[in-house]
Amino acid sequence: MDYAARRARLAAQMQPGAVAVLPTAPEVLRNGDSDYPYRHDSAFYYLTGFTEPDSVLVLVAATDDKPARSILFCREKNVEREIWDGYRHGPEAARTTFGVDDAYPIAELDTHMARLLANAPALYYALASNAALDAQVMGWLKAVRAQARTGTTAPGTFVNLLPLLDEMRLIKDADEQALMLRAGEISGRAHERAMRAARPGMAEYELEAELLYVFRKNGAQFPAYTPIVASGPNACILHYNVNDRTMRDGDLVLIDAGCELDGYASDITRTFPVNGRFTDAQRTLYELVLAAQDAALEAIAPGRPYSAFHEAALRVLVQGMLDLGLVDKSKYASVDDAIADKAHVPFYMHGTGHWLGMDVHDVGAYRDVTQAEKPSRPLAEGMVVTVEPGIYVRPADGVPERFWHIGIRIEDDVVVTNDGYRLLSAAAPKTVAEIEAIVGTAHD
Ligand code: GLY
Ligand code: MN
Ligand code: MN
Repeated sequence: MDYAARRARLAAQMQPGAVAVLPTAPEVLRNGDSDYPYRHDSAFYYLTGFTEPDSVLVLVAATDDKPARSILFCREKNVEREIWDGYRHGPEAARTTFGVDDAYPIAELDTHMARLLANAPALYYALASNAALDAQVMGWLKAVRAQARTGTTAPGTFVNLLPLLDEMRLIKDADEQALMLRAGEISGRAHERAMRAARPGMAEYELEAELLYVFRKNGAQFPAYTPIVASGPNACILHYNVNDRTMRDGDLVLIDAGCELDGYASDITRTFPVNGRFTDAQRTLYELVLAAQDAALEAIAPGRPYSAFHEAALRVLVQGMLDLGLVDKSKYASVDDAIADKAHVPFYMHGTGHWLGMDVHDVGAYRDVTQAEKPSRPLAEGMVVTVEPGIYVRPADGVPERFWHIGIRIEDDVVVTNDGYRLLSAAAPKTVAEIEAIVGTAHD
């Protein structure tokens, strides 16, 4: 990854001489003296590749007579802390390893910032994201304003840094796409392993263990989000992740799980019968969701609006709901009528995708807010989206009983190419035939 080029691109969008300040994420205490596993801030990592906590990146944009500069504030070397907690680069090694122009101890941040902000025309900073740093920023500004009698000026313009970075992160370069493809391959193979391991009588968490094994075995640092292993009626709970039910013969199990590899997420859902054979009702709904996903994928190409793939999936799903009696056909003259009346919402209550990148629900605007009607923005080469239609049938009057408690979602990750899309999650088996051929085969 060319972090220096990213810093240069950001600096080039700033006012001449302006200063940007971007902290990484704080460590979070779990209890006692145990922290949650540390995860850097995505935007900070995007510009630095640096994964240590207690770090702040400062950029100073170029002026007519000075080039742009990047400055990293980080933890100092500390023999005792390194014995307990592990290696720290320290400013000197961080400067050479990460290619910043200067690096200083984080303890010197206040001193340097009062100097760097003196006479800077603008400050680019994500106010209200980090209360402790917000307070420090106010201290720096007060310190600069206190020098007014000497002719020193304080920044007069304050700009939210994040939208600039969000737009940069939305378009994935070739290195990022290669990494996301690898993350998708690992996650796809994890789903395949879980399918092979499944059989009635197992607990959902045993399948979770199979997924986590493949993630870690292949070098992924974390799950990108808490895995959902939802069998039987649990599949109709969208954010179920207790994963402690014993799976029964005849159940479907919905697994939504993806690894995070070197800071990039994957996000894959597969749904399959625990005993390896779909019932007629399960297969009927599965094929419907698969057809909806195919229609959505067809709508993915540069220039097509972001909303088009959701609309394509929705039309297929709603036609199926009408045909199968989930939605009362006598009430609606057309699919469009049913959609306008939100007749599908009891069975399909989420969108068909989201941006995917360093964050599982990645950054970037979905609409063009510069136009009055705020239309859905066009897809462009290098954007990565999930495509995840589903159907969830809870028991209710008028809903055919054979579909009760069936919850199905099929989720893939795709990158928009110059003429369509490339699937990043192809390693996860998906068709009825592929699934029936492998579920339970670990026990053969
Ligand atoms: N796993 C989160 C999502 O599918 O959006
Ligand atoms: Mn998703
Ligand atoms: Mn998902």
